[in-house]
Amino acid sequence: MKLTLLGAAGGIGQTLALLLKLNLPAESELALYDISPVTPGVAVDISHIPSAVKVKGYAGDDLDKALEDAHMVLITAGLARKPGMTRADLFNINAGIIKNLVEKVAEICPKACIGIVTNPVNTLVPIAAQVLRNKGIYDKRKLFGVTTLDVVRAKSFVSELKHQNPTTVKVPVVGGHSGPTILPLLSQALSRGLKIELRKEEIEYLTHRIQNAGTEVVEAKAGGGSATLSMAESGARFAIAVFKALLGDGCVRYAYVQTPEGSGLPEFFACQVRFGLEGVEEVLPLGELSAYEKAKLQEIDSILRDDIQKGLDFVNNESEKA
Ligand SMILES: NC(=O)c1ccc[n+]([C@@H]2O[C@H](COP(=O)([O-])OP(=O)(O)OC[C@H]3O[C@@H](n4cnc5c(N)ncnc54)[C@H](O)[C@@H]3O)[C@@H](O)[C@H]2O)c1
Repeated sequence: MKLTLLGAAGGIGQTLALLLKLNLPAESELALYDISPVTPGVAVDISHIPSAVKVKGYAGDDLDKALEDAHMVLITAGLARKPGMTRADLFNINAGIIKNLVEKVAEICPKACIGIVTNPVNTLVPIAAQVLRNKGIYDKRKLFGVTTLDVVRAKSFVSELKHQNPTTVKVPVVGGHSGPTILPLLSQALSRGLKIELRKEEIEYLTHRIQNAGTEVVEAKAGGGSATLSMAESGARFAIAVFKALLGDGCVRYAYVQTPEGSGLPEFFACQVRFGLEGVEEVLPLGELSAYEKAKLQEIDSILRDDIQKGLDFVNNESEKA
């Protein structure tokens, strides 16, 4: 089984590559690709770490070789935020990057699962879906946006506030992956399987902090980029769990995926997902929402539908130009 990481020389990419080298199942292949010429060197560097994962690096024109026979493709390629930028500001550059990379995936490894880390996730996943539809090979089970960092942050912030051990805390986070579209379901927060009671002010504080956690990092890095280390750690955990699911060891994780027809949700939405041999096996229901969460869900509905439409319009406009 082979995993290809696109954007492997970047801030997220290098740490993610290291964690994949350490934690993918033995005998897996890890291909690292980036337009940056440093990428083969990143691969040589981590190849000296003794693990049974075989790693190779590719740069520039060698994208086809990196993608050959890949079962899973993770994309971290693209621009990251600087202070004052929203994820939507990244759209113009990153939309083109994702379109080109997904076209290559469609050509070289059409059956591979694609996980998109690059922002804005809300719009880039629909772009990838539309590119694959236009190629006649879209399979909704094989495309997902990586929103694990929102779940990880919710876990950390809730446990910090309530003085809990973070490893025992679970908080669902659904919706999208930008500002207000990030919807933590704090009414379902659990510690050791027991409900965590939160006051109204605590819910408002936590919701705001979880939604703006990315900006907290961007501002603290003062122009040096956005979250890389926490993203790489959470992305690696997610990717390894899904990769193992493709091998038969199913898992349940949050991801931004195509929603089931009749769900009433926007076409793409971060939900709890059961992953299996072919990728997404089942998109699980949101569970019971509080009145506060129901109101937030209503607020984000139109934002997400607009984000999704923007992605479809981008691909359609590009096709008209071609
Ligand atoms: N999903 C999330 O939770 C989440 C969290 C943090 C950051 N991000 C996003 O992840 C992306 C990467 O962030 P970063 O901090 O690693 O940025 P970075 O600038 O450090 O790295 C990006 C890498 O992409 C490479 N690249 C650019 N165009 C490419 C192409 N066509 N093919 C292959 N590689 C290409 C660059 O050479 C660079 O090495 C950004 O869009 C950022 O907003 C997502």
